[in-house]
Amino acid sequence: MYFKVRPLLFLLSAEGAHSVAVAAARVAQRATPFLLDSMFEFAHPSLHQEILGKTFSNPVGLAAGFDKNARLIPFFKKAGCGFVEVGSISARKSKGNKRPRAFRLPEDEALINRMGLNNAGAKAIQPRLKRSAGQNAFPIGINIVKSHDPAITGQEAIDDFCESFRIVAPWADYIALNISCPNTSEGKTFEDPNSLDDLLRAIMRERSQMTRKVPILIKMSPPSQSKFVLDSFYDEMILVSLAHGVSGFIASNTASDRDGLITSPERIAAIGKGGLSGRPICSRANGLVSYLYRKTEGNVPIIGVGGISSAEDAYERIKAGASLIQLYTGLVYQGPGLIRSVKKGLVRLMEEDGHSSIKKVVGIDARSPRI
Ligand SMILES: Cc1cc2nc3c(=O)[nH]c(=O)nc-3n(C[C@H](O)[C@H](O)[C@H](O)COP(=O)(O)O)c2cc1C
Repeated sequence: MYFKVRPLLFLLSAEGAHSVAVAAARVAQRATPFLLDSMFEFAHPSLHQEILGKTFSNPVGLAAGFDKNARLIPFFKKAGCGFVEVGSISARKSKGNKRPRAFRLPEDEALINRMGLNNAGAKAIQPRLKRSAGQNAFPIGINIVKSHDPAITGQEAIDDFCESFRIVAPWADYIALNISCPNTSEGKTFEDPNSLDDLLRAIMRERSQMTRKVPILIKMSPPSQSKFVLDSFYDEMILVSLAHGVSGFIASNTASDRDGLITSPERIAAIGKGGLSGRPICSRANGLVSYLYRKTEGNVPIIGVGGISSAEDAYERIKAGASLIQLYTGLVYQGPGLIRSVKKGLVRLMEEDGHSSIKKVVGIDARSPRI
């Protein structure tokens, strides 16, 4: 069905198509919930896991950025996701950058975006988070970020992050700290070991005053494809995170570079700045997952994201060390049916390899790194 409407959607700008898809999903989740069930139904016990103190019925989740204002949680639950990550949400609302700010690169099955953290702000989104919280076997991660305003720096930036945390943390099954947004001049303020140390000290202080100790995950940038160095920078980031009691990592965000593209350099130059996602970042996101898994000795869960567009990609990411995986660009090119096909394919691939549970697959390839 998606492939029939895709040519029409792709006549629109990338953001226009996203708005139409979101509107259709909102109508569908209200008007036709039973139809959605029958379209996307697929469950299998081998996909179940207990992670971060929660039950995940399957490892396939929605990546941050698709549902920034937490409006589509029922749709993605019906579409068969095992969890969703909403956001990024900031303390102050933001309109984001000027349009156009999202671009398709069909030859590469990729996107470039510089949305600029458009979201309605933590206070406005909080009531929806409250309504969706605590669902059985459907964890909801909430991704938070510093408000998009270059004037907010230093201690003010930490306070800004903490404000979002206080507003949304009570309703989250995990909190993702987006310290790696490449779309704003100040979006990576905390992607440096010293700044991350300061941020985590403040966030953990906030958390210690709450009755529930919500798990905190750090969302990292991918290594650049041409250098592909996984070096002391990542080691320090991991050390600082673990020293503060971080519960896991998300690898990875979009890439700032333009490595490995088929799309013409002229078209890329015309697009300008933005984070690259989709197929071109697949292998390096995989490499980062494997690196994180080895460095943490498999002791904390990793969410693998970046360029996953098939069950084979998802299986590879899980074998590299991801306990869970997320989709974004793959959904733009293949539609929500991808969620079911990844789950079905994972069960088939596990059966072929003689594995009875996804848990047994996590990290089995991480000890023989290809990077
Ligand atoms: C249009 C767009 C908006 C995004 N917005 C966010 C965001 O607000 N916060 C965030 O942490 N990641 C955001 N991301 C990054 C995705 O969550 C994901 O990490 C990245 O796209 C790699 O996965 P993919 O190749 O499957 O798309 C965004 C990605 C895209 C394409």
